[in-house]
Amino acid sequence: MMEPYKIKAVEPIPTTTRRKRERLIREAGYNVFNLAAEHVTVDLLTDSGTSAMSDRQWSRLMVGDESFAGSRSFFRLQKTVREIFGYRHLIPVHQARAAEHLLFTALVKPGDVVPSNMFFDTTRANVEHRGGRTVDLVIQEAYDPRCDYPFKGNIDLKRLHRLLDTESPERLPLAVLTITNNNGGGQPVSLANITEASKLLTAKGIPLYFDACRFAENAFFIKERERDQAQSSIAEIVAKIFACGQGCLVSAKKDGLANMGGFLATQNEKLAERVKEMLLLIEGFPTFGGLAGRDMEVMAVGFREVIDERYLSFRIGQVRELGEKLLAAGIPVLLPFGGHAVYVDAKAFLPHVPAEQFPASALSAALYVEAGVRAAEVGSLSGSHRDPESGQTVNPAMELLRLSVPRRVYTSAHLDVAVEALKKIYRRREKLRGLKVVHKGEILGHFTARLEVL
Ligand code: F0G
Repeated sequence: MMEPYKIKAVEPIPTTTRRKRERLIREAGYNVFNLAAEHVTVDLLTDSGTSAMSDRQWSRLMVGDESFAGSRSFFRLQKTVREIFGYRHLIPVHQARAAEHLLFTALVKPGDVVPSNMFFDTTRANVEHRGGRTVDLVIQEAYDPRCDYPFKGNIDLKRLHRLLDTESPERLPLAVLTITNNNGGGQPVSLANITEASKLLTAKGIPLYFDACRFAENAFFIKERERDQAQSSIAEIVAKIFACGQGCLVSAKKDGLANMGGFLATQNEKLAERVKEMLLLIEGFPTFGGLAGRDMEVMAVGFREVIDERYLSFRIGQVRELGEKLLAAGIPVLLPFGGHAVYVDAKAFLPHVPAEQFPASALSAALYVEAGVRAAEVGSLSGSHRDPESGQTVNPAMELLRLSVPRRVYTSAHLDVAVEALKKIYRRREKLRGLKVVHKGEILGHFTARLEVL
């Protein structure tokens, strides 16, 4: 497997001593989000905003049109979005959570119910911020790390049907499909499932929106795993996906191969007009919405490069290779491997550390100390919630450590650093201890939380 590009610019990688890392992680409150990047050797914290841009993207920086109103770069991006996603109205934003805020502010009222296969942290928080209730309806297979069902991001159509039958349509302003399902392991949704969900929703007059941050990776899995789509091009599959919905929100920081940017796109003209008014209030004029003209140029190129099959084949292959090396070493990993990340099953890795002691955070801290590798907790620290009726803390079904692979950044040798470190930790896993929280904020508190070793 060969990178379908060669390297034109390089960036030095920091190294640190184990002793120093032990001190740094303690000072960071055992939360890798609190570490300075200059102390990280291989950064697998996120695939968001961390891509390496191509020479074509860099070249577009100079032609960006920085006009306040009517920027040429906006129209170029709008043309690209219309061609690839098929939606008429484009609202650029600085990143996807601004699009979430705008979309849910326009559509969700207190007491509303918003179904999804599974919400990402920020989409969930933005619905709840509006007083809406989020309902995850992903299929049951998604919660079994060992099950290798090819489309573990699928929404459970029976449960969706039941919800649509029991809730009044006035309480259901929209449904969201997250492609790929990041918090469920970077798992794809099949085109058949998208089509069926769309039919159910259309019958009730409920608009379907995609949280499409990793739409190209999802399309690649459809081509690879859904037999009747094997002959379609990625661009055709992408068009078929988005034809099932009324709009999408996208973070260009993922499948836009950009370091910043995002957009909301919709077929609904009235909604677009309303959102543009809010955009003026919080992001900027509708033809730049929080972005420089050059950022929009970079996005327009990125969305075309990301649907290239050679790129995707290497991309998905590189993540898969990382997963296979861990699996071969006997390390418990979530199957099948995701599109942008491999998720280590921290519950199986550290069975002696209960959810209340944050096994995925403990593993993340150990991985940093072992080799200076940073990975993200997707478990009880970020995913627990208080049950509104009982007042009890409810922990998520899985405790995962996400090893995200930035796009076009690392080679296999870099990823092997993480593999070797995890192998060493696995051999002495009984020695690892759980953590306790000493500080956590109210909104998305896991990003800044501080913990101590028990
Ligand atoms: N939706 C999904 C599925 C995401 O993964 C993210 C971000 C967002 C929405 C929000 O996008 O960052 O541009 O505001 N995910 C990043 C991650 C942060 O690390 O997975 P944003």
